[in-house]
Amino acid sequence: MKLRSIVLSDYSNLISFWKKNYFVRGIDNLDRFKLFLEKNPDLSIVAEVEGKIAGTVLGSFDGRRGYLQKLVVRKDLRGKGVGKGLIQEAVRRLKALGVVYIPISCEKENRGFYKKLGFKNNKQVIMSLEVS
Ligand SMILES: CC(C)(COP(=O)(O)OP(=O)(O)OC[C@H]1O[C@@H](n2cnc3c(N)ncnc32)[C@H](O)[C@@H]1OP(=O)(O)O)[C@@H](O)C(=O)NCCC(=O)NCCS
Repeated sequence: MKLRSIVLSDYSNLISFWKKNYFVRGIDNLDRFKLFLEKNPDLSIVAEVEGKIAGTVLGSFDGRRGYLQKLVVRKDLRGKGVGKGLIQEAVRRLKALGVVYIPISCEKENRGFYKKLGFKNNKQVIMSLEVS
């Protein structure tokens, strides 16, 4: 498995990959993707196996906290360490920038995955505001 930084020209392949293996929505448009990569250089990572996308994670740093989004592994490659490799590399890169705290929101069924990687439950609950 090869890990490399995501670049703008990956966009259309990533959209196909996310559609097949997770989901896409309006915020995944090209303008937002470009802005995200410009604001967070070298924090988004693609895993490749035999030259094809095996997984992704989009990392970001707001100057205080680090964030991880779009952690997605190809359906037929799950359970083989791809997700773990992506998170470890993203955390390594965030740490190098000085990040000391990475909050995550995830589906219940993925809690076990994050726990294995050292994430802990906390007392906070997730709230969000749709700004339209
Ligand atoms: C969640 C996801 C990224 C995990 O990736 P993966 O490559 O299958 O996970 P890994 O093989 O790297 O797993 C690492 C460890 O976590 C464990 N693990 C993986 N998924 C798990 C789960 N849902 N519950 C409990 N443990 C899990 C593995 O057994 C492995 O344990 P080990 O180190 O003791 O062998 C993948 O299932 C996926 O793409 N899901 C759909 C998208 C999604 O839900 N993303 C998360 C958004 S928050």
